[in-house]
Parts: sequence; C-alpha cells; structure tokens
Amino acid sequence: MDVFKVSGNGPLRGQIKVGGAKNAALPILAATLLTDETVVLRNVPDLSDMRFMLEILRHVGAETVQPEPGVWEITSKKITHVAPYDLVRKMRASVCLLGPLVARMRKAEVSIPGGCVIGPRPIDLHIKGLKKLNCQVEIANGYVHVDASEIQGGPIFLGGRSGSTVTGTANIVMAATLAPGTTRLECAACEPEVVDLCNMLVKMGAKITGIGSPELVITGVEKLHGCEHSVIADRIEAGTFVIAGAITRGDVTVKGIAPKLLGAFLDKLEEAGLPMELGEDYIRVLPYEGSLKTVDVVTLPHPGYPTDLQAQLGALMTQTEGLSIITERIYPNRFMHVPELQRMGADISIEGPSAIIKGASKLSGAPVMASDLRASAALILAAFAAEGDTWIQRIYHLDRGYERFEQKLSAIGAKIERLKDTDMPKELLED
Ligand code: EPU
Repeated sequence: MDVFKVSGNGPLRGQIKVGGAKNAALPILAATLLTDETVVLRNVPDLSDMRFMLEILRHVGAETVQPEPGVWEITSKKITHVAPYDLVRKMRASVCLLGPLVARMRKAEVSIPGGCVIGPRPIDLHIKGLKKLNCQVEIANGYVHVDASEIQGGPIFLGGRSGSTVTGTANIVMAATLAPGTTRLECAACEPEVVDLCNMLVKMGAKITGIGSPELVITGVEKLHGCEHSVIADRIEAGTFVIAGAITRGDVTVKGIAPKLLGAFLDKLEEAGLPMELGEDYIRVLPYEGSLKTVDVVTLPHPGYPTDLQAQLGALMTQTEGLSIITERIYPNRFMHVPELQRMGADISIEGPSAIIKGASKLSGAPVMASDLRASAALILAAFAAEGDTWIQRIYHLDRGYERFEQKLSAIGAKIERLKDTDMPKELLED
C-alpha cells in the first residue's frame, strides 16, 4: 500500500492550479444517464472516485470514451435500472444514480451504500423526495426499489435535521427534469456543485429556475439531449492549498478558483489575520510575521463554512496562539483526525460536536493513520508544520478526492513523497 512521507517544511512558494470538483463531477457523471445522446464532459478530475462512478455507468450500459485527459464522452443508448452492491459499496455518491434512473427508466434498484467513517449518512430525504414525486419506494434486501411509473411533479420540502442535502437535492432535481408537471423544491442545497449540475441539466434541455437559491422550480420536459459541459473548479482542493500556504507561511497563488466560491472560508482566514490577495480567478496567500489569530467556526450548509474544510482549518489552528473552537454541525463525528494530530503533539479536546484547540503546539513527525479524505489532507498540512518526518498510512482515502496532490505540492517546494509501506521503518508499520 502507498504511504506518504512528509517532512517539516519551510515556506511553500509558487503557483498551484486547482482541478475539477469531485463533488460536482460525480452527480454530473450520473446525469449523463438522463439522455441517449452523447454528453461531453471536460475538466473531469482523475480520481479513484471518478473511476468508480465510470465503472458503475458502464455496468448500467453507458459507453465511455476518454479522448484526452480530463475529457469524457459518455453515451447511454440502452441502460438497465439496477446498480448492484458490489459496485455501489465502493462509493457513497453512487446513490446519485437514483435520480437519473428514476427519470429515464421510471424504475430503479440501487443498493444502499454502507456505513461511513465520518458518521451516519442516511438517505431518508432522498426517499422522501421521491415519494413526494409520487414514486413507490421500498427498501428490501439492502436495495432501494423505486417504481416511478406514476411519477408526477409537485411541492417538496427537502430539509432535514442538518438543513439541506447535497446529493439528495441532486437526485430530486434529476428525477424531476423528466417528470410531468412542475416540482417546487424548497430547502434545496445551494452548494456550487449543485449549481454546476443544474447548469449542465439546463444545457441538456431541462427547465430549472432559481438555480443557486434554496427554492428550485423544475418543469418536467419529455426528453433531454446531449451537451458539452466543463466541471467547475474544486473549492475544497483550493481551500486545502490556501491552508498549505498559510501553515508554512509561504507565498502561494492558488489559480483557477473564483474566491466567491469560498466566501465563508476566506472570511475566517481574513479574521485570523492571514494576508491574502484575491483576484477574479485566484487566491494568493502572502507571508506573515508572528502568529495568526484564533477563530471559532461552525460548519453549515453553503453559504456557511464547509464541513469539507473543517479538518484542514483545525490543523492550521494548532499553530495559532490561543483557543479555537470548531463545531461540526453536518457530521458531528467528523473528528477522526484529532487523535492522530494529538500523536503529533497537538492539544485538542473534543466536547460534543466541538473540537477545542489550544494553539501554538510544537508538532513533531510521527506515523499516523488517515481515516477519510479530508482527515488525510489535515494530517499532511500538520506534517508541514511539524519537526521531522511524518509517515501517513491509508492514503487511498486522499486519492479519492485530490488529484496528483503530492506532485502539485512538491512543485511549490513541499517535501512530500509517495512511497510503499514496505519503505517505512519496520518499527513504524501498523500490524
Ligand atoms: N442527511 C439526512 N438525510 C438524508 C441525506 C442527508 O439526514 O437523506 C444529513 C446528513 O446526515 C448530513 C447532512 O444531511 O448531516 C448533509 O448531508 P448531504 O446529503 O448534504 O451530504 P452528501 O450529499 O452525502 C456531500 C459531499 C460530501 C460533503 C457533504 C456536505 C458529495 C459526493 N459528497 O455529501 O463530501 O461533506 O455533501 O457538504 O457531494 C467529501 O468530499 O469529503 C465529502 C464527504
């Protein structure tokens, strides 16, 4: 298995380019099933999650051609309505096949994805939305079975305990594009990735208004057609690079990202006193003297502070003087990285859904274990600020969502190497 060896780092310097957004590309790939015509997608990141999704699309009947890196041509002439467990279990986001299958096939059998380390990931809101679209939904043998022969648009309130749902909104919007009548979706997710999906659906001929707002109105059409679409930039990757610049006191220009996609995140870094220059499509992090200020953060649905940048901000806050409180409202258990940061010398305690971080810790390199995608990123960021070498195991989590992470960061001066676990000093290997 691959591991990262990361060495304590001086300032990173240079330009780093952001790739296509994983969380936009996944539902967008699923949406290609809504038409029998060819859809051309650009700026698709090269990630293991994309490979899982393409594998499922091919299983369902899609033909996938990659004429050049980052570009996929997908044609789904004849498809089936079944997405089996052995494919779906590899990736929770495969649940967003439900919407397109329901819309196009008027039936779906999609295995319910298994558990997830960041906490329960229920799909009750997806099911509620489908029922409101007059579908018959049953759960049996680990599958969601949907009979959508009588599908019909109508009013739907899709909010849950934690507010809106990203893939739930994607599913219901996709299902409604081909449902007779008008669907008025309230408490829709406003994440830029949902906006990107809706923009692509409009290019395919869907009728959607209110895009980017919590109220979407979808008027069903008879048929959707092929289109060309370029996936938006990955705001979470961009935010991770911003913190890499900040934690090393570097001078890093993160290119290919509109700062407005990262409003709440940049606001917090500004409050922390990080000097930055914001352009139309770049964020430049500038060096600073002394310590950054502590910040208190609560994760919320967009436009609030994103949960997917919570762990990385925590890593930065281990280096500021004072106490920070990070409260996780989307996935209250998303603190699996904390015990690993503690092994590196961080002073963090967990109180309910909050991490209380006592900053200015002197971190030192240690063997640590990545538990999920964003936790992996947080450990690498902390390792930049640590003295000595940090060995990070289970980095397959990182490969799900960060494209060529170590190459991009090495190019601006990071000491990060991908090695095999057999290269690790024997006494550091996990059992
Ligand atoms: N929820 C319900 N019922 C549902 C669906 C969601 O109660 O039927 C709850 C969840 O338990 C959670 C909240 O609603 O507390 C929000 O979940 P959401 O459905 O929005 O999450 P998701 O669509 O499963 C996407 C991203 C996640 C990201 C979340 C929140 C994709 C493929 N995944 O998940 O990304 O954390 O939105 O922004 O888009 C990541 O990239 O590392 C990642 C985990």
